[in-house]
Amino acid sequence: MKIERTPWGWKVLAPAKVNLSLCLKGRREDGYHELETVMLALRFYDELQLELADDSVLELTVSGAENVPNDDRNLVVRALQALRAAMGCSRGARVRLTKRIPSQAGLGGGSSDAAAALVAGNRLWSLGLSPAQLSTIAATLGSDVAFFLPVDPRYGARAAVCTGRGERVAPFPPGRSLPIVVVKPAVGLPTSAVYANYSAANNVQFVPTPAKSAEIAQVLCRGLLNSLGALMRNDLQGPALALCPELAEVKAGFDRLPVVAHQLSGSGSAYFAVCRSLLQAQQVAKLARKRRWGESWAMLSC
Ligand code: C5P
Repeated sequence: MKIERTPWGWKVLAPAKVNLSLCLKGRREDGYHELETVMLALRFYDELQLELADDSVLELTVSGAENVPNDDRNLVVRALQALRAAMGCSRGARVRLTKRIPSQAGLGGGSSDAAAALVAGNRLWSLGLSPAQLSTIAATLGSDVAFFLPVDPRYGARAAVCTGRGERVAPFPPGRSLPIVVVKPAVGLPTSAVYANYSAANNVQFVPTPAKSAEIAQVLCRGLLNSLGALMRNDLQGPALALCPELAEVKAGFDRLPVVAHQLSGSGSAYFAVCRSLLQAQQVAKLARKRRWGESWAMLSC
């Protein structure tokens, strides 16, 4: 996350993420799944601009995407409402959200927007909430939101091992930025549907395999990527492929390319590869468009 003051308020760049691993450990009493995941933030951003409103209005204008709600179905509005409820205040804000990160993609766009709204709202209204307090509110908004909160007031999250239902965040500094290509098929996948499909397939016998988060963190910290392919994994990939058959073609296509490693991000439907260079990522993005796998982008991780 990058935040800067503007003459009117605050501007925030809210990054996307991919999951280098996502290992499910069991279903919880509350219906969520206990998991362990390694998240990596990307230099691929939505933009939020917040300014003070004279009254208590919360107004959201969305551009850059169709079908993104501008009412309290949007996590940005819910984040600002949650801030006001926590502090018992009724101050207002006008928010402009420019979407670039696709929805229903497993790239954390909505969660990142929510984290950006929490951080910017805290400053806009001079609430003085601590990072720990913001983290607690973040967890009520969604499992991924806390990952996107800045670890240090000057820097946003870059990489972390997340546990619990995803809200317990242990950040680590990646040694280098990774070249990444992301492909998003036209069909999106609702997170809850992919988890439900996973549960249906694993109801009888649930045998979690150990997550390799520490090994992945070590590989990233040292910048040695060759063993990454053997460590990456996403337990939601099978259930997502069953719901979105187009992904099978994308996966098969990546199998034939000399990238470092590739898999589904989060609950999909975005699929990504760690590439050998930014140039390779750009070439693969072009190829993906030519083969009509979906929209595609090349970028570096944060
Ligand atoms: O927390 P969030 O609102 O992002 O989760 C969306 C849905 O994904 C949940 O309602 C739940 O069905 C599923 N989920 C889960 N276990 C997690 C995270 C999400 O089952 N750890």
